[in-house]
Amino acid sequence: MILPQVLNAVILWVHLLMAVLFVGGSFFMWLVVVPSSRLTTADESERTRITGVIAKRFGRMTNIVLVILVLTGIYNASWYLPSTAALFDTPTGNILLLKVILVGALVLLIYVHNVYFGKKIIQLAREKRLEELKALRKRSRLVSAANLVLMLVILLLAVMLQMPF
Ligand code: HEM
Repeated sequence: MILPQVLNAVILWVHLLMAVLFVGGSFFMWLVVVPSSRLTTADESERTRITGVIAKRFGRMTNIVLVILVLTGIYNASWYLPSTAALFDTPTGNILLLKVILVGALVLLIYVHNVYFGKKIIQLAREKRLEELKALRKRSRLVSAANLVLMLVILLLAVMLQMPF
């Protein structure tokens, strides 16, 4: 029989690994993939097609990673907090509650971003409506930046869960 402490450690490790893939991959897209795509071709619609293919594949991976993150997160919370009430009446519980709310906001933003901007950007690129494409991309970048900031805040809250109160 597996000791509960060993199981908890393995699940926390899976949670951490998924967080690394999710946050690391998102920053890689922003810091490496998008800037390098500018060097591949001067044709804006071709460039959008290339980043679109990469973003779509990353999006599919992200879906699975997010489901595992939330499931393992709920499992972690089951041993980390003494009771559900602790979410509301202890400082550590409050931090976890805030983390969960921000994770919810992040998931919502990711899906709104994918459904609205992702599809529209690819469509505008295909139809070579370059001025509209530029304007939409600017707005899409703002949402992506907000996502990355949210991830950093969620990571900070995860670290704060380790602070003794
Ligand atoms: C509903 C979603 C989530 C819940 C309920 C949750 C809950 C938890 C809990 C209870 C811990 C253990 C705390 C500890 O060992 O100190 C933890 C650790 C951690 N979580 Fe989450 N989590 C969720 C989503 C996320 C997401 C989306 C990320 C990344 C963006 C993330 C990143 C981390 C990290 C990096 C740790 C390790 C912190 C440490 O041990 O110092 N979590 N999480």
